[in-house]
Amino acid sequence: MVLTADRSRTIGDKNPSQHPLLRVIDLCVQLGGRTVVDGVSFAMSRGEMVGIIGPNGSGKTTALRATSGLIKPESGAVELSGVPLSDIDARARAKKVAYLPQGSGQGMSFTAMEIALMGRYPHLGRFEVEGENDREVALAALRRTGVEEFADRQIGDMSGGERQRVLIARSLAQEPELLLLDEPTASLDLKHQLELMSLVHDEVAAGMGAVVVLHDVALAARYCDRLVLMDYGRLVADGSPSHVLTAENLARVFEVEADIEIDKTTGRPLVRLIGPVRGVHPGVPTALRDEVTE
Ligand SMILES: Nc1ncnc2c1ncn2[C@@H]1O[C@H](COP(=O)(O)OP(=O)(O)O)[C@@H](O)[C@H]1O
Ligand SMILES: [Mg+2]
Repeated sequence: MVLTADRSRTIGDKNPSQHPLLRVIDLCVQLGGRTVVDGVSFAMSRGEMVGIIGPNGSGKTTALRATSGLIKPESGAVELSGVPLSDIDARARAKKVAYLPQGSGQGMSFTAMEIALMGRYPHLGRFEVEGENDREVALAALRRTGVEEFADRQIGDMSGGERQRVLIARSLAQEPELLLLDEPTASLDLKHQLELMSLVHDEVAAGMGAVVVLHDVALAARYCDRLVLMDYGRLVADGSPSHVLTAENLARVFEVEADIEIDKTTGRPLVRLIGPVRGVHPGVPTALRDEVTE
């Protein structure tokens, strides 16, 4: 859904549609003297929902934060519609990219409306307070995510699912071109997981792009147009869910045995987890595993 007409604005490029919405080029990020994102490259178009999956510590959050511009990569680049992120100032960037960190909203004492209005801050001038249009956009975002009735309720007095929908509303009120969501379904029950993914999917289909870090491979397979699989900071597979979610990749990266069936109607993989794979050496980087003798 387009909340206001200015969703179509560009970021200064004469022909932004010639470029992918997002291009991540050979991204390397170091934290605490260690390379935690190591040469990650992928690109995505408008209208696409890309899932990043991978085991704990594989660098998903770090890759997403670098894509949002919150942390500077050691090397490599991120481009939005062909423009390097490093050439876009923080305020302009916040109009283009909405980033929802893992576990957001805890300890906040604001109403849903106040939180949705925070999404408007990048659109306001210095010392400018939000106007009628901003309130309308914020309210429309709360309506879109199904929490309009909680507009005046404190976020602390909401269930996890309601809180998460308010936070998504804040991101939508920002009217970004790119939505970056880090584990938005964590701590939600099954119904709310599906509702949230379906909501993001619909928003993306209306012309935005979304990169969503997910733990749940079944959810990723069901909703994402494309998946990026990370392991030890590296991108090890990138493509359609059926290309990435193979039994071999799940065994190699997640160390689980799984049966994969392709759903005849959707063409998407259905993942049936069987159990942990025996014989893989925990803690040994994938790239080195082939050299490990049993
Ligand atoms: N601020 C930090 N300083 C040092 N190491 C960090 C920091 N943040 C994360 N890491 C390490 O970077 C690696 C990747 O972390 P992260 O991107 O959070 O992984 P994921 O989101 O895939 O679980 C992990 O080994 C983690 O311990
Ligand atoms: Mg993470």
